[in-house]
Amino acid sequence: MNDGYSVGIVGATGAVGKELIRLLYERNFPIGNLRLLASARSKGKTITYEDHSFDVEEATPESFDDLDIALLSAGSGITKALAPEAARRGCVVVDNSSAFRMDEEVPLIIPEINPEAAKAHKGIIANPNCSTIVALMALYPMHKAFGLKRFFASTYQAVSGTGADAIVELDNQVKALVNDQPVEKEVYPHQIAFNVLPHVDVFLEDGYTKEEMKMLNEGRKIMGLPDLKVSCTCVRVPVYRAHCVSIQAEFEQPVEVAAARDAVSNFPGSELCDDVDNLQYPMPIDYSEKVNCGVGRIRKDSALENGLSLWVSGDQLWKGAALNAIQIAELLHERGWVSIKA
Ligand SMILES: NC(=O)c1ccc[n+]([C@@H]2O[C@H](COP(=O)([O-])OP(=O)(O)OC[C@H]3O[C@@H](n4cnc5c(N)ncnc54)[C@H](OP(=O)(O)O)[C@@H]3O)[C@@H](O)[C@H]2O)c1
Repeated sequence: MNDGYSVGIVGATGAVGKELIRLLYERNFPIGNLRLLASARSKGKTITYEDHSFDVEEATPESFDDLDIALLSAGSGITKALAPEAARRGCVVVDNSSAFRMDEEVPLIIPEINPEAAKAHKGIIANPNCSTIVALMALYPMHKAFGLKRFFASTYQAVSGTGADAIVELDNQVKALVNDQPVEKEVYPHQIAFNVLPHVDVFLEDGYTKEEMKMLNEGRKIMGLPDLKVSCTCVRVPVYRAHCVSIQAEFEQPVEVAAARDAVSNFPGSELCDDVDNLQYPMPIDYSEKVNCGVGRIRKDSALENGLSLWVSGDQLWKGAALNAIQIAELLHERGWVSIKA
């Protein structure tokens, strides 16, 4: 008798893939069989996690023949090629890339916000953009309390959001600079160590970046607010892990700070970290490898009508990627929206 799902991780050698392996085991996801897949470059490599050892396979359409669930974190290009092949073979895909997020046929899910939308999946479910997830974990409870009208956001995005190579680049640049050596750069167009780059993803004609537009488009889709207005500036900072977002939000109804704090405290997946008298506010070093996103600095905004200013920090490798993807798989399992192949 099969006692669990046959699960595959595509992109298992990457920054998100590593966290997917760890969290699947830590959260006791019902795995019958786990297979790790990546590009042809990684074929034959061995990955170990605690007492489990895996030979990495090259991901091909046939890889999905025997899989029930595939967690993809391999980038948009390969996802566009492989995810439909997986779905055709009866494997449910939860994808971390942007490939299918705005596809009308594909649910875009944060389980604490729109779990019911996952039911309509046709074999592919998308995990939202990491900064968008972190921002919405703070904004959605406030939206439920006061009705969100529009918001302005500036992100402070960790380098691990770019992938495993960017972590190495920051590390090498810091070492080079403290040893008075020349800085080498490959991942980012400018030095990232001891610097900030007001540039995440590619620039569009209107001057925004693609990443900035995700906050608007994905925010609208997830919260079901087609008229929501968002203006966002995405910034890369020399932090290894956990994104932060500064938000100024305007609501339909009058706001109260105490009610906003209550809304956050009562929302699963978010926690209040807001005690300025004791210098307590959410910081990346405290919200790395944490399930919850931290919300603080909540105050009435001095420039907006019915406005709140706030700050949120969350581990983009976890809630922004691997954890949210596994929570989607858990949701599918709990609701019976995925099945084990005979
Ligand atoms: N990092 C984050 O915080 C974050 C958050 C949300 C979403 N995401 C998304 O998640 C995806 C992965 O990000 P990452 O940060 O983990 O990147 P990464 O560290 O660069 O890892 C990329 C992974 O994709 C695999 N891959 C590349 N080309 C492939 C191919 N042709 N076939 C199969 N596998 C292939 C790589 O395998 P090889 O080692 O064999 O090259 C590697 O395992 C991206 O779409 C990214 O936008 C990332």
